[in-house]
This record gives sequence, structure tokens and C-alpha cells, in this order.
Amino acid sequence: MEQTELNAIFKKVFNESDYRTFFAPGRINLIGEHTDYNGGHVFPCAITFGTYALARKRDDQKIRLYSVNFENLGVIEFDLNHLDYEKSHDWANYPKGMIRYFIEAGYEIDSGVDVLFFGNIPNGAGLSSSASIELATGVMLEGLFHLAIDRIDMVKIGQKVENQFIGVNSGIMDQFAVGMGKKDNGILLDCETLKFEYAPIEMDNYRIVIMNTNKRRELADSKYNERRSECEKALHVLQKHISIDRLGNLTPEQFDQYQDEITDPMIRKRAKHAVYENNRTVEALKALKENNLNKFGELVNQSHISLRDDYEVTGKELDTIVEAAWKQEGVLGARMTGAGFGGCAIAIVEKDRVDSFIDQVGKTYQEKIGYPAAFYIVTVGDGAKEITTGNMHH
Ligand code: GLA
Repeated sequence: MEQTELNAIFKKVFNESDYRTFFAPGRINLIGEHTDYNGGHVFPCAITFGTYALARKRDDQKIRLYSVNFENLGVIEFDLNHLDYEKSHDWANYPKGMIRYFIEAGYEIDSGVDVLFFGNIPNGAGLSSSASIELATGVMLEGLFHLAIDRIDMVKIGQKVENQFIGVNSGIMDQFAVGMGKKDNGILLDCETLKFEYAPIEMDNYRIVIMNTNKRRELADSKYNERRSECEKALHVLQKHISIDRLGNLTPEQFDQYQDEITDPMIRKRAKHAVYENNRTVEALKALKENNLNKFGELVNQSHISLRDDYEVTGKELDTIVEAAWKQEGVLGARMTGAGFGGCAIAIVEKDRVDSFIDQVGKTYQEKIGYPAAFYIVTVGDGAKEITTGNMHH
């Protein structure tokens, strides 16, 4: 959608044409899956798909929100003094939760706002459209109300909205990637300490291709919580034998030494994934720094195998698309990305072979699954920020 179109919609919906524009990206995770809530490492990056928020302050206490993506729901309106979760407010609960927790954290929001949202992250694809709308709201509030808020605090408020306002028990990765992303860089984040490091993703001859299975992540939330509690069970057993706070504290060697204490083989596999995946993530950064892209790709492949066999969060669609990707020439590595159970996978593909890669993988997927996949080439972009043209120095 063009700026001029959004302009016209803003005018039509709010009868005003003076606004500022904010943007928050979506994310992919290169490696380090289901490690964040285990106190391990993740390695995500922000992408250039995301959520735009066009916003202006009002003279009263009304919050009026409109999404181009949910036109049928019209303007959702509530009062600055009534910020409870409401099912009928649907998508607008994300910005509502942000406003509420900003106020609760002591940030002064002294008037209502009109906001138009527009997102171009493919729907339900697991590219963090919810973290994107949360952080778009965060930078919008920061900008309009001149708030001095630390970016990591904003990220934490986003996670709090997800956990406590919406009720999804997710880790910190998505909000962190969306809030802290940097153009052309991945972020290696230690989810225990929140220490992080940017790492340039310089893959001159390669492109990262997102492969969207178009399979809705139906069981995602319940299975997600199930995996979390399986990891907690493993942790409790291991804590009787070794002093650790999180599975992410264990090295693979330590895990191997104590793994037999976990008598349930299913729980043991879950823990094994968490520990080994954490290690692979740290190794992946090293490989990237040494410009050892083959090693990086190998770790990416191992990550998928572990998510498939030990953590069991892939499913037929993700396995079909990733296994088809592995068979193509010029592919360094491929794996699912995000929570799993559908959604997207990524592949690192030689630049000149991207077209034939998409052709071939698309064909195989359609044949085996019965409906088409979608493909997008990744551009690694910045984290959430104001993008109002000619008005960047508010
Ligand atoms: C979802 C969650 C993240 C993370 C991933 C799995 O995206 O929101 O916190 O746990 O799944 O790595």
C-alpha cells in the first residue's frame, strides 16, 4: 500500500490529515528456537515487512484505532481510563495493552489518540505480527508523548502485554528482535541476562528466502505451553543433581552426563533440544564471524532436525518444505523459524539460484501438500522507529 493511499484512508477515517508515522518490523529467527524461555540464546533479525502506525494526539481522552487489515471491524474506540482486555476489541487489544502498561509503568499519556494501523506481514505466518503491532504502538507513544523510555523496557512491556494481557506465555525473543533490530544485522541475544551482540549478516552471494507453508498454526498456543511445561519438568529433575536455574545453563557435555536421570524419554528429548540448540546458536555466531557459511548452514539444518525429532514442533508442512529445500542445489541450510506447527521456514540460497529454488520447492510442496506455499526474499531491516518524512527530529 502506498503512502498516498494510507493518507487518504487516514483522512477519511479520522477527518484529519496531520499525523506522524511510526513503523515496527516483523522478525525471522536464524537459529535458536524454543530456547528463549529456557534462558538460552536466540539469533533473530528484523525484516522489512512490518506494521505502520499513523497517529495524532486528540484533545480528549478517546483512543480511536483503525486497521486497514481488519476494515470490517471499523474504528475501535475506548477511553484512556478504561483499558481492560475486551474480546470484541480483537486486534486492538495489543495496542490497548501497551497503553495500559505504559501508564502503569508511570509514563504520562495525557490525551487520547487517533491511530491507523497497516501491516504487510503475511497473516498468521509466525513472523511476529503481534510483537510488531506492540512495538509500533510503543514507539508511537514514545514519540507523540515525548517519553524518555529505555528501549529494553519497551521490549519488556511488549512481552508483558503478550503474557498477561493477551495470555500467550511467550519468551522475549520476538519483542526484542522487533524493538532492537538493526539493518543488515542479526542479534545474538542471551535471554537469561539480556546481553546481546549485533552480528553483520554478510552473505554476498546468498539470499535468505522465507518459505511460508500457508498452514495455519492451529495448535500453536496449546502445544507451545505444553513444551514449556515439559522443559520445566526436565529442569526439576536435573536440579536434583546439578545446580542450574535454567536448561540454558547446561553445556551439552553436562547434559550428556546427567540425562539418564530423566527417566521419561520424551521429556529427555525436549531437554536435549533446548540444551543442544542453545549451543548450536552460539556456534552459529562463531561460524558467521569466521565467514564459515557452510558450517552456519549445517547448524541451521541440525536445528531443524532437532525440532523435528526431539522437540516435535514441525509437522508435515514444515518438514515437506524444508526437506524439499535441502535437496536443491546452492542451498546452505534450511529450517523452520518461530514457534512451529505451521507458519514459515527459512532457507539460505545462492543468489543466482533463488528463482529456480522457488520454482522447484514450490512445485514439490504443491504436489505433496495440495495447496501452494509462498516465498519472500528477506531484507534485514531496522527495529521499531518513527519514519515520518521531514519530521525525524521531533
Ligand atoms: C514464539 C515465541 C518466542 C519463541 C519462539 C520459539 O515465536 O513468541 O518467544 O519462544 O516461539 O523459539
